[in-house]
Amino acid sequence: MKPKTEAEIELMRVGGQKLALILNKLAGEVKPGVSGKDIAAIAAAEVKKADLQPILLGYEGYPDVICISVNDGIVHGVPTATPFKEGDVVKLDLTVANKGMVVDSALTVVAGDAKPSADVQRLLSASKASLDAGIAAIKGDGTRVGDIAAAVQDVLDKHKLGIVRDLVGHGVGYGVHEDPNVPNYGVAGTGPTLMSGMTIAIEPMATLGDWHVDFLADGWTVATHDGSLSAHFEHTVLITEDGAEILTLP
Ligand code: MF3
Ligand code: CO
Ligand code: CO
Repeated sequence: MKPKTEAEIELMRVGGQKLALILNKLAGEVKPGVSGKDIAAIAAAEVKKADLQPILLGYEGYPDVICISVNDGIVHGVPTATPFKEGDVVKLDLTVANKGMVVDSALTVVAGDAKPSADVQRLLSASKASLDAGIAAIKGDGTRVGDIAAAVQDVLDKHKLGIVRDLVGHGVGYGVHEDPNVPNYGVAGTGPTLMSGMTIAIEPMATLGDWHVDFLADGWTVATHDGSLSAHFEHTVLITEDGAEILTLP
């Protein structure tokens, strides 16, 4: 992967901040009685207002501006008119471009005000912690993709969560998906070498069951095969000389 220029990085920094603000706003709108389509409509309006491009719409034929996946749905869910119910585990994954430079981020929230079960709390907190650990494993120039993968895996393993293997993080910037693949399991010291100026999306996908997934008949949704609940967190990250900068923070 070719490192981005400083000007390209600045576009991703500005786009990433706007994306994060939108994603947080959307997360606050996920409530019982609200549908994925309602959230998608807000997303479309906010992306437009922020002068960003809704790059997912039409990407490989994808029909919306945001992916919304519920409960056993892990990623790539198409927003539907079905209202969320109390306790639904809702994943929002938004990818946008700022003057052509793409940024990608996702989070998981629970609909409603009731305290989630201990299992759901473990699912969300450990999945988020695994993303943080993957980012913390980036030590700048020379970091190997396996260093990130192993750090993510370590947290998910410790919390007894299934690690989705069929989908991975990725380079991002000029397009939605670039080299290299960034798996959520692996061995430190192996894999492609990262250099400053590279931009990657790290996105652990974890389950309360095992790692096997189904690709559903809607042509998009990827769901757990065993029906277990799942979580997904994602940041777009810049490799710097001696560390990492998260580009998708508010
Ligand atoms: N945002 C997704 C990712 O993290 C990409 C979704 S592609 C779509 O890689 F076609 F399903 F929208
Ligand atoms: Co994404
Ligand atoms: Co991604």
